[in-house]
Amino acid sequence: MAAADAARWLWDGTLDGIEYTLRHGVRHDGDDATRFSLMPSFGRDGLLSDTQIDGLTHYVLRVSGQDFDADLASSVETLYQQQCATCHGVDAQGDRTQGAPNLTDQEWLYGSTEAAIYNTIYNARNSHMLAWQDRLDDASIKALAVYVHTLGGGE
Ligand code: HEC
Repeated sequence: MAAADAARWLWDGTLDGIEYTLRHGVRHDGDDATRFSLMPSFGRDGLLSDTQIDGLTHYVLRVSGQDFDADLASSVETLYQQQCATCHGVDAQGDRTQGAPNLTDQEWLYGSTEAAIYNTIYNARNSHMLAWQDRLDDASIKALAVYVHTLGGGE
């Protein structure tokens, strides 16, 4: 169980890594050391067409072991490698240096349905977490890191 869970951290599941995330937050304005990466809003910013996003949605359905349209999914093999692989990896296994989730593990931040995946690719989500070092003392942050680490998936 530990090994499988270990793969599911977006950024870092070690005690030090968790403490770092608590201190600096994720995409937190005003903390230069915050965990940072931004998935482009491929539809909203006009980077890809609706047809391309439709294809990529079915590509993600395919790699995550769900029902998919084979023609749509295979129409974007090259596009996936060009637009998505730099962050999510050539095999869609994710990249922790960028907090990019594994798309094959059937663990979802924002939903597994066709509509949810389309929405993610169209808009990007890029959620934020506060930098708690501005709000909590050192001892509390350390205690919270230990607590989170012991919840089950700590590395
Ligand atoms: C610059 C890096 C980057 C690129 C390029 C990128 N992504 Fe992402 N993607 C991310 C990050 C980071 C997240 C997590 C966002 C968050 O933490 O809120 C994410 C989240 C997702 C999710 C949500 C997964 C879940 O668990 O709900 C999907 C689906 C996804 N990306 C698909 C794609 C596809 C398809 C492409 C190519 C068109 C793509 N991404 C390109 C960085 C990237």
